Amino acid sequence: MLSAVRRVATANPAAMMRPLTSMTMTSAFSTSSSAYAPHNVKNITVFGSGLMGAGIVQVAAQNAFNVTMVDLNPEALKKGQDIITSSLKRVAKKQFPEDAAQQKAFIDKTMAQIKTSTDSEAASKDADLIIEAIVENLKTKQQLFAMLDKVAPKHTLFCSNTSSLPIGEIAKATKRTDRFGGLHFFNPVPQMKLVEVIRTEETSQDSFDSLMDVCTRMKKTPVSCKDTPGFIVNRLLVPYMMESLRIVERGEATPQDVDVAMKLGAGFPMGPFELADFVGLDTMKFIVDGWRKEGKIDDNLVAPVKLLDELVAQGNFGRKSGQGFYPYNGVGGKK
Ligand code: NAI
Repeated sequence: MLSAVRRVATANPAAMMRPLTSMTMTSAFSTSSSAYAPHNVKNITVFGSGLMGAGIVQVAAQNAFNVTMVDLNPEALKKGQDIITSSLKRVAKKQFPEDAAQQKAFIDKTMAQIKTSTDSEAASKDADLIIEAIVENLKTKQQLFAMLDKVAPKHTLFCSNTSSLPIGEIAKATKRTDRFGGLHFFNPVPQMKLVEVIRTEETSQDSFDSLMDVCTRMKKTPVSCKDTPGFIVNRLLVPYMMESLRIVERGEATPQDVDVAMKLGAGFPMGPFELADFVGLDTMKFIVDGWRKEGKIDDNLVAPVKLLDELVAQGNFGRKSGQGFYPYNGVGGKK
């Protein structure tokens, strides 16, 4: 959900991520004696063909998984296919500059790995892994997984791409909590290397190893995190953005000065207000309000900020509405 967060995340903390990565890579190759052997995932079904679902489908198909993309209606699927086609054209041009034949072969080969469906049940029958990237609503996700639990094969792993909901709560709708985890991709999926792999108290070692293995085979860098609010990236970024708002609300500095300070003083590629506008102020408010309600994060970190509430009430959501902390032109660029 926090899409723009990606650029900050890749700016500096790479060194912090390294120990986690090497630790989790080791566990990805651990052996296990239980019935479900890791590394077996061949068929992936992705629910939701929006921004994230389409990106996940593309990356899986590019890396030789058989993928089925599911959405509620054919128009949504068509939108998802369009997202994938335009993105693949960009990737092909980059990989094979000046070679139209190779570009076409690459696109055709990738598209041949993708099936689409509006029939959730049929699309789940052969899945080794189901990745859910539908609307950010706990009840809707639970309903989907409760249904899938009845129709998907026993060995099928389930995971959610949620940014802000507890994986364990979604998993409760199923009887396979040991085969349930989180795969938190970042937007735009084809470009962003990171995936946070979330394990709940009940996620089995085999399931976790398989999820790590899938990420590696998708040529992503997985990091492991427990099922905690915001996982790693958003848990650090959201309180940081909220504190930036407080600095402005107290009249200590302007948004422009805070942005310049964090870019030039901390080496971040975007300042917190540019980032908040990119992510969407409504999305930020949704996350913070949800965390406050959950009560799992220190109250001070998620205390409401009047400035944010007012902007959202006015419909000033950032780039997508044309006005946030900065004004934007029709295509999202700053005026
Ligand atoms: P989106 O709104 O672009 O796409 C959601 C899609 O799900 C829509 O096409 C909708 O028709 C479909 N859908 C809804 N209910 C469905 C159902 N029962 N079965 C099949 N399809 C269904 O949403 P977006 O941005 O792709 O987000 C999806 C998930 O990914 C959310 O959980 C979000 O928190 C998470 N996420 C979003 C990021 C972002 O930057 N947008 C980043 C990381 C995670």
